[in-house]
Amino acid sequence: MRVCVISGDGIGPEVLGAAVDVLRAVVPAVNLIEVEAGWATFQRLGVALPDATLAAARAADAVLFGAVASPSHSVPGYRSPIVALRRELDLYANIRPVNFEFSMPNTELSAIQHSLVIVRENTEGLYAGRERLEDGGDTAIAERLITRRASSRIVRAAFDLARSRAAAGRAQPKVTIVHKANVLRVSDGLFRTVALDVAAGYPDIATEEMLVDVAAMRLAQHPQRFDVVVTTNLFGDILSDVACIHGGGLGLASSANLGEGRALFEPVHGAAPDIAGQGIANPLAAIECVAMLLEWRRRADCAARVRAAAARVLADGPRTPDLGGTSTTADVARAVIARL
Ligand code: NAI
Ligand code: MG
Repeated sequence: MRVCVISGDGIGPEVLGAAVDVLRAVVPAVNLIEVEAGWATFQRLGVALPDATLAAARAADAVLFGAVASPSHSVPGYRSPIVALRRELDLYANIRPVNFEFSMPNTELSAIQHSLVIVRENTEGLYAGRERLEDGGDTAIAERLITRRASSRIVRAAFDLARSRAAAGRAQPKVTIVHKANVLRVSDGLFRTVALDVAAGYPDIATEEMLVDVAAMRLAQHPQRFDVVVTTNLFGDILSDVACIHGGGLGLASSANLGEGRALFEPVHGAAPDIAGQGIANPLAAIECVAMLLEWRRRADCAARVRAAAARVLADGPRTPDLGGTSTTADVARAVIARL
């Protein structure tokens, strides 16, 4: 198994270091190809995603990605490498599960009943990179790109996921189509029309549609009412941070970026400059990425071992400060490996 490792900036290398140790512990023969991307890379080489990194990501069986620190001001020549990687590798489905087990104890439902999944379109929308200044710099325009092709395949991915969750025991499978077609009549109008067309092909899965603002409130208030949520790029980015509160916060939120035969796994969180360098970042989101990677590579046995070990550590400690503990990234990683 060839795994391309891009740890990036800030806490990226800290949490991926832990994740890679766990991966090596379960698959000793894994072939790790470590390459670079991010803000530090840009400052050194003048490019945030070097060609060699992209080539290594293409050649590998899967990619593990940490986080990059993209500045919030415009820097000529800089573009977020993770957004570019998703587009270049055509990783169109960003799957962001939220496992309620960690914040809603004492119910009798199984883990699958206990979770929702945000399925976010990953290649277009407002992140299509079509921004420009006009009017001598006094007007800024961003184009929101929505295509029938991308909408159709992401909604299909969501319904297929709902079906597989139903097969795994989820009662009352449902897909919630989230949009803002009442205002974005043309772009989300197309997304909505295509989504409802796709939904008609899945009579076994309940379908509902919801405007994005009320979806944010309901995800905060009644997460149990959701199963699979499918939406466009920016909405999915924001809603997944809202929803992850119910899964123990950003330190436990993981995601898969899937395309045809390709996959990149990354924690939902960013480079966390406020805690970077202190050795206290929670590595469990990155470690769950290893479990997702193993599952995707059809090593379900290894994935289950990683998840069981991480769950024991979550229950018994040690815990990093974001979960109320006082332990370090390395303490948690060592404990997970010991449980393996
Ligand atoms: P962030 O996700 O980096 O951090 C938000 C908050 O959550 C911070 O208080 C941080 O300390 C905490 N946090 C995040 N991950 C944690 C972990 N594993 N353990 C414990 N606490 C954790 O978001 P923020 O601060 O808005 O962005 C920082 C930088 O990261 C920015 O430059 C942004 O562009 C970048 N970013 C990169 C992403 C990526 O590479 N995929 C995603 C989101 C942001
Ligand atoms: Mg985000």
